[in-house]
Formats: sequence, structure tokens, C-alpha cells
Amino acid sequence: MASDIATKPVIAALAGRTQKSPPAWLMRQAGRYLPEYRTIRSGVETFLDLCFTPRLAAEVTLQPIRRFSFDAAILFSDILVVPHALGQAVSFETGEGPRLDPIVDGDAVGRLQDFDAGALSPVYETIERVKRELPSNVALLGFCGAPWTVATYMVAGRGGEEQRAARLFAYRDPAAFARLIDVLTAASAAYLVRQVKAGVDAVQIFDTWAGVLPPDQFRRWCVEPVQRIVTEVRSQVPDAPIIWFPRGAGPQAAHHLSDVAVNALGLDWTIDKAFVREHIQSRVTVQGNLDPLALLAGGDALDRAVDAVLEAFADGPFIFNLGHGILPETPIEHVERMLERVRGYGSSA
Ligand code: CP3
Repeated sequence: MASDIATKPVIAALAGRTQKSPPAWLMRQAGRYLPEYRTIRSGVETFLDLCFTPRLAAEVTLQPIRRFSFDAAILFSDILVVPHALGQAVSFETGEGPRLDPIVDGDAVGRLQDFDAGALSPVYETIERVKRELPSNVALLGFCGAPWTVATYMVAGRGGEEQRAARLFAYRDPAAFARLIDVLTAASAAYLVRQVKAGVDAVQIFDTWAGVLPPDQFRRWCVEPVQRIVTEVRSQVPDAPIIWFPRGAGPQAAHHLSDVAVNALGLDWTIDKAFVREHIQSRVTVQGNLDPLALLAGGDALDRAVDAVLEAFADGPFIFNLGHGILPETPIEHVERMLERVRGYGSSA
């Protein structure tokens, strides 16, 4: 861990260090905006085949590192491999997103299998393969979906509609919904521990749909489960740095930073930057928060948006990132332009 702080800028940032120019990586940096990803994707039948073939998953994990020299690689997989390992049927329809056999009631929750972390062994093999090839200054990040976000897909059977199916389930049968969240909380913690033991340097918990809940339910379905995951992971692998990305709920999450002892908070672009400096970056490392549409737009709008992020956060513990995943139609030159600006920041200031 101490040597990782010296060699890996992302790990130094997660340990609270401020750096001259901030380390950078992008959510969804391995994916369809890269022609080399599309080539590999077209050679396999299903998206899950790609996730579960370690040689190919390792290759697509490394592609954005080779092209852009990002400071972190993120394991190529998906948050929905956890429901898959729980016995729920999961598939990905090209252009339409994920499809699952919906969990409609408490009986369906009861029919889920016990989580066997060993069932995801191809993921740990991918991690081992990536570690062998990754430059020593690049951190490898593992991840899982937060229980609430994963539950929204499990209950609806798909994305969309303001996560209405899961929210209704939670209102109508809170006890059964709590059982589903408990299953996911235990599974996610066990899965993250296995990823750390296989070699990831840090993990990120994606809570993409945290922003749709009223405050009491945000506490019940987002804060408490993530807190339990953090406690469990820390009890087994004490040094593992943890990033929480409660998209759309940064201001609410700020109230809970003493309960949820994460190293960093990932933020989307809607949050007020002065608020972040005062209430979040004073306590934990911040990661984010360029609008993916500014990156898609490019030009002056991109430069101005990058500068605003750097000026707000680069003088404290900070990891440059987007506020959500890179959009598939993003031109590669825009990513290059953005990185040049981020990397030049320390020298021009
Ligand atoms: O580069 C990386 O970030 C690593 C890989 C990664 C993927 N999904 C690959 C992927 C990660 C970290 C995820 C996380 C994920 N998956 C989230 C949380 C973050 C977010 O973006 O909100 C969510 C909600 C999912 C569920 C999911 N997977 C959806 C809704 C979709 C369809 C929408 C889409 O972007 O296609 C996926 C499919 C998916 N996951 C793809 C990739 C590269 C595209 C599938 C393909 O290539 O055919």
C-alpha cells in the first residue's frame, strides 16, 4: 500500500494526497467509442461471453490504457454479473440494454440462489491477467453495483422509467425488498473482497440510480447497504481504497460521510462546486465530474468545462473523471484534447 502511494497517482489521491496535475480515468473508458473494442465485441456472440472470457476481457480492459495512458484501468465486466451469479437470467440486447427475468415479489426473492463468489472466477482470472500487463504506475480498479442500483434492474427486468418498479416494490413490500437488498449487500461485499484478493488496487461502488429516492429511503436503501459493504470489505481487506459513486445524490451523500467511511466520493456534473469544496473535499477525495456531453461537444465548450473542474478541485485530493460514463458516440480526439488539458494543468498554473 505504501509503495502503491509512491508509484500510482490514483492510489496517492485516494490516500488524500494533492498532486500537481490530477490523475485521470473515465467511467466506461473501455467500450463502444473505441474501434478496437468494437472489433473484439463483434467477434463474440454475447456481451456476457466477453465479460466471462478472461483473455478478451483483459484485452479490452487494457485497450484504453494503451491508447490514452489513463492513470487507472477499470476491470471490464458489468454490475449485472452479480444477479447472474444469483441465478437470475440476464442478457444484453444490442442497442437496448440489459434484460432480466423480473423479480416480482417476495417469493421470487426467496428463489434466488445463495451467492457463490467462486461462480465469478473468470472475473478474478481477468484481474490476474491485467495485473501482469499493466504498467506499474497504473491502478487497477474493481467494482460492483450498489445494492439499490442493481435491485432496480432485477425488479424491473430492464432500465428506464425512473426505476419505478423497484420503488413501487419497496413501498408495497418493504420487508421483501429489504431481503433483496440484504442478499445483494452480502454478495457485493464478498465479490469485492475476492476482487481485491485477486489484485485490484481499489474498488468503486456504482450507485447510478441513487438520485431518485427521497432522503429517508436514500438512507435506508443506499447509505446503509453501502456502509455495510464498506465495513465488511474493510474487515477482510483493511487497506482497500473504496470509491462510492451515488449519482445524482452527492449533496445527500455529503451528510453521511462520517457513517460511510469511503476514501472518495464520485460526483456527477449537477452538483455545486463550491458546496463540494466546503462539505466533501474537506473530508474525502473527490472524483469527477465533467459532463459527458461537454466531452461529446468538444471545442471551446469542452475546454471551459475541463478548466472549471480543474479550477474547482485540483488544489485538493482529486481524481479527474466524467460525471457518468463516456457516451459511445464521443470522438476519440475529444478525449485526447481533454487529457492534454488535464495533464498540462500543473505546469501552466
Ligand atoms: O469501462 C468500464 O467502465 C468497465 C466496464 C463497465 C461496463 N458496465 C461495461 C459495459 C462498467 C464499470 C459498467 C457498469 C454498469 N453497468 C453500470 C453502472 C455505471 C453506469 O454506467 O451507470 C450500469 C448501470 C450497468 C448496466 C448496464 N450494462 C447497462 C444499463 C447497459 C446498457 C447500456 C449501454 O451502455 O450499452 C450495459 C451494457 C454494457 N456494459 C456495455 C459495456 C461496454 C455495452 C454493451 C456492448 O458492448 O454491447
